[in-house]
Amino acid sequence: MINLIEQTTDFLKGKGFDNPEIGIILGTGLERLPEHVEIQKEISYNLIPNFPTATVAFHKGKLLYGTLAGKRVIIMQGRFHVYEGYTLQDVTYGVRIMHALGIKKLLVSNAAGAINLNFKKGELMLIDDHINLQGGSPLAFNGVDQLGDRFVDMAAPYDTEMNNTLESLAKASGVQLHKGVYASVVGPQLETRAEYRYLKIIGADAVGMSTVPEVIVANHLRLPVVAVSVLTDECDPDNLQPVDIPEIIAMAEKAEPDMIALFKGLIESL
Ligand code: HPA
Repeated sequence: MINLIEQTTDFLKGKGFDNPEIGIILGTGLERLPEHVEIQKEISYNLIPNFPTATVAFHKGKLLYGTLAGKRVIIMQGRFHVYEGYTLQDVTYGVRIMHALGIKKLLVSNAAGAINLNFKKGELMLIDDHINLQGGSPLAFNGVDQLGDRFVDMAAPYDTEMNNTLESLAKASGVQLHKGVYASVVGPQLETRAEYRYLKIIGADAVGMSTVPEVIVANHLRLPVVAVSVLTDECDPDNLQPVDIPEIIAMAEKAEPDMIALFKGLIESL
């Protein structure tokens, strides 16, 4: 993998994606963040050597580079999911590349269902800890020890300092920011009532289909990471409604301005 990373990184440096300070993975809730960025470079994933999409028809993903709140940022617009058929190494390749290009912090967003029923749809949750239910690890491959420790400590996978900043920013601007445990499943099917009960019992506050692989790799690279979920639906096993995709999208859009303001504030403070 080292050689692949070197090839990709050399290519991107040659295209001007050099020395970014902060990496951002745009999930749900941050899709309009690029409107706030002074974009200097952009490149479609399928033009980047060794990017997982090179062999798959995948047109909308791109890497952006520019300045936001005075900082050099690199943005993954479009992420990879295990439910699309990618491996956990594919899903996290972009994190390794942004790290190799020089980022010092990683910021991530996603959409999640609320398991903790004190949390309501349309609200935000700062991920404080996680449960990996994807059935594998992005670090389970031959040669992982050449890129970092094999037995990565996960006692505090999310950066306390950036978490504190996000919490004070939320408080100062009157944004409701819950804090909790995110469970990551493969999907793409949603959970059954029995699975929602199980997720609650094991200590999850929210459930989604992303983020945990990227966070594990960030920890492997000793890259401080924060992640925020937009809660798009309430997963009450005793009153479960059929999934309503237009409503999920509406909830994500409702929360987006708060999410963008928090991320911009955090970036300004770094
Ligand atoms: N499960 C349930 N609800 C959700 C999810 C999920 O993975 N993602 C967004 N809402």
